[in-house]
Amino acid sequence: MSIAQLQAFIGHLRQNKVFEQSDIIKVVKQMVQIDRRIGLLAISRGYLRPEQVNVIMNALLRHIDLKFGEAAVQMQMLTEPQVEEILRLQKNDLFIFSQAAILSKVASAEKMAVVLKNFLSSQAGAAPPPEDAAPSKERVAMGRKIREVLNSIQSVAALPGAAQKVLTMLQDPEVDMDKIAKMLATEATLVTKILKIVNSAFYGLRARCNTMNQALVILGLKKIRQIILTAGIMEKFQNVSPEFAAKYWNHSLRAAQWSKELAGIFKFKETEELFLSGLIHNIGELVIVQYFPNEYRQIDDLIKAGTIRIEAERRIIGGTHADIGAFVFEMWMLAGETVQSAMLHHQTPAMLGQIKDLSTYIKIINLAVALADVDPEGKDAFEVIAQLDVVYQPYAELIGKSDIGIGDIHMRVTNTVKELQKMFA
Ligand SMILES: [Fe+2]
Repeated sequence: MSIAQLQAFIGHLRQNKVFEQSDIIKVVKQMVQIDRRIGLLAISRGYLRPEQVNVIMNALLRHIDLKFGEAAVQMQMLTEPQVEEILRLQKNDLFIFSQAAILSKVASAEKMAVVLKNFLSSQAGAAPPPEDAAPSKERVAMGRKIREVLNSIQSVAALPGAAQKVLTMLQDPEVDMDKIAKMLATEATLVTKILKIVNSAFYGLRARCNTMNQALVILGLKKIRQIILTAGIMEKFQNVSPEFAAKYWNHSLRAAQWSKELAGIFKFKETEELFLSGLIHNIGELVIVQYFPNEYRQIDDLIKAGTIRIEAERRIIGGTHADIGAFVFEMWMLAGETVQSAMLHHQTPAMLGQIKDLSTYIKIINLAVALADVDPEGKDAFEVIAQLDVVYQPYAELIGKSDIGIGDIHMRVTNTVKELQKMFA
């Protein structure tokens, strides 16, 4: 399938007044958002679960000659007919256009089937459009680039030594707390960060906690694990400009606090885990800024010229910061839901709705990130709430609640985030 055929199809829709021009633009915009990677197509067909895509991507790094489909078949995650079907769909621009039209609610699936049938029969007998040679070459180069990027991330993305060692030690529920405290004591800056988080508004301790031993006793293993991970990440990604860091962490804290509030609405017991997933969902962007500054500048130039971020990232490094974040979390052996929420945080609610058995956890983080994108800074409260309402509407059906009292939550999130920012001061 080729771009020429897609252009002919769009011409056909215009000529026959099947769609309005504004609807065609809407669909093309939605097309950009559809990730053409085989993995996501496989997820949307219900053939793979999101975490399986990561497992396959990791295997590809070790076996450089394998293709995604081949690896998936070897690992018995996909069958050969499924791979063939997905490859066919991936190459088919008309399929992607139709899917985008359905997702953006420009046409129903039934209508698209009729439109496609009419178009294809009008094309029968016409000379076949020339195949594009360039895109396939481009695709090969992109595949290589993302592998290069992921390979170099493997060598740089380890957490600071003591944090990594302690996280491994904490996997043993019988671990000796004294040993943990001693190990952490070897990195004073890490301990300072950990105590800052422990004493932050988030944990609301009655008395100040001044030593690691006290913190370990008061908070317990699970919370300490999350805090060490957060402190390790803050320590790891310090080589970015203060302006970028302030903006980045402000957005991440809002996403974290929205996640925690939404978790409460859905009666999740582990609200702190959702907070953490919200806080670190965008780590791929930090990885790009700190370790791929040249590529980051090129991405930034494309964004300034009007390209949306994830598309710009795909063009420059062959993958998105969401892919990179999921890859790093996999390396750090974080929980599957944290990995998946990073991987899927830029998917639209319509795309999420297509994924079979997607957990509420992932939907919450996705929604929290979208709500956190509305920055209340310098805006009137009514204006912010109206914007949040607009963001929420497409999620109402996905998460099964028409009203979550967005205004009240927004007030609580804004106040808490102000307190939490002190963690980073
Ligand atoms: Fe993001």
